[in-house]
Amino acid sequence: MSTQTKKSSFSGSIGFVLAAAGSAVGLGNLWRFPTLASKYGGGLFLIVYLILVLTFGFSLLITDIAIGRRTGKSSIEAYKLVSPKWGFLGKLTFAVPCIIITYYVVIGGWILKYMVASVTEFAATSSDGYFVNFITSKVSPIVFMLVFLAITAFVVYCGVEKGIEKFSKYIMPALLVMIIGIAVFVICSKGESGTGLDGFLKYITPNINDLKTASGTVDVVKIMNLLLDAMSQLFFSLSVAMGIMITYGSYVKPDVDLSKSVKQIEIFDAAVAFLAGSIVIPAVYAFSSLDEIAKSGPGVIFVALPDVFAEMGIAGKIIGPIFFLMVAFAALTSSVSIMEAIVGAGVETFKLNRKKTALAVALISAGAAVIVCLGYNVLSFGINLPTGATGQNLLDVLDYISNNLLMPIGSLLTCVLIGWVVKPQWIIDEIESSGHKFSRKKLYVVMIKYVAPFMMILLILQSLGAFRFLST
Ligand code: PHE
Repeated sequence: MSTQTKKSSFSGSIGFVLAAAGSAVGLGNLWRFPTLASKYGGGLFLIVYLILVLTFGFSLLITDIAIGRRTGKSSIEAYKLVSPKWGFLGKLTFAVPCIIITYYVVIGGWILKYMVASVTEFAATSSDGYFVNFITSKVSPIVFMLVFLAITAFVVYCGVEKGIEKFSKYIMPALLVMIIGIAVFVICSKGESGTGLDGFLKYITPNINDLKTASGTVDVVKIMNLLLDAMSQLFFSLSVAMGIMITYGSYVKPDVDLSKSVKQIEIFDAAVAFLAGSIVIPAVYAFSSLDEIAKSGPGVIFVALPDVFAEMGIAGKIIGPIFFLMVAFAALTSSVSIMEAIVGAGVETFKLNRKKTALAVALISAGAAVIVCLGYNVLSFGINLPTGATGQNLLDVLDYISNNLLMPIGSLLTCVLIGWVVKPQWIIDEIESSGHKFSRKKLYVVMIKYVAPFMMILLILQSLGAFRFLST
């Protein structure tokens, strides 16, 4: 039985699916996915990722959403209702969006900057050092971050149905049209080093040799890395374990078919990731060299692509700005969901007024995000993170704490709570409460009790540096 008491809600299933897809589709899909797919040679990574989405990802996503709808509450209150002794998990989960918002809006600001610069100073964006000069400058990143944050806060301020749902209903279909359009254009184009079609075929064709060592034996280290990378990508990409999907779930009406909605959200998310790869990999293949993706690492969107757009000539001048507009849309719907997870919980726990809470959260986030921006200049430092990566600034460290530590730990505990303490039937009842069928029920039980916790432990161990020997 649903104990829903909240006034705010999505108008129906489509509004909910688009808002949740808006949260899921973000920089993880457009930026991180193509980089990872290219690191593992495309095809094989795509297959592994898809299998994980339909099993592991689906279980985590449906758990969060069902907890939200059944309790009718955001993270802090929801876990208390699931089991009174597990209230601490609500607080831990709530901490994640509070940390992420402070740096997600900074990256959102970078995207806005590129969107503007790809129109006003097109040639300059492809010049060496443009990106680093921008992010290390003192004023500009703060200004763009504040604009991005203001748009985010405005949508949240307008409420669930009039703000988030309405915004997602326009933005998500537009994003889909743009990404399909750009992918088709890129695949049909011809550059100096090849055709987009060849790049696309390279991207989708599984090549078993990618998983072999130079001497022809199976490369266990690479397979292990592929699995770990695919899992952590999925985790981030579906926005699970950070209270967001619990909050959104709490706004879903009791008659909505959760099993079907989750299917649509995961398909949307995976499709956008696939399409992003169909843009980035063929474009870089045809106009530059695939090595560039590995070399520029996370800078692929800001470093390698502007180069590609410049190589495309006049077409690049049109495609470039549309591409960054699309990325901005994706990032905005994600940051809206992060802020909503904080505001929704704040309103509920402290019985605050929604609009005032939105303003207060925006102001506090702005202050914290200014500090994150300054982490690239006056407050910069360098430390080594347990994963082996260098934490060169506040953003890397905050990302490590939230994504590599708090999220898998929170998720592991959620699996234990649902799988072993209250039992999976607690979730199954909610999904079937409105007479709908739970199509992957058996799979769900196995996943939440055994497979997902095991995978979480692997991810936590990786974050603590236990598998660093794999990279040598
Ligand atoms: N899921 C989003 C993506 O794929 C990112 C995100 C992270 C959204 C954290 C909300 C919170 O990029």
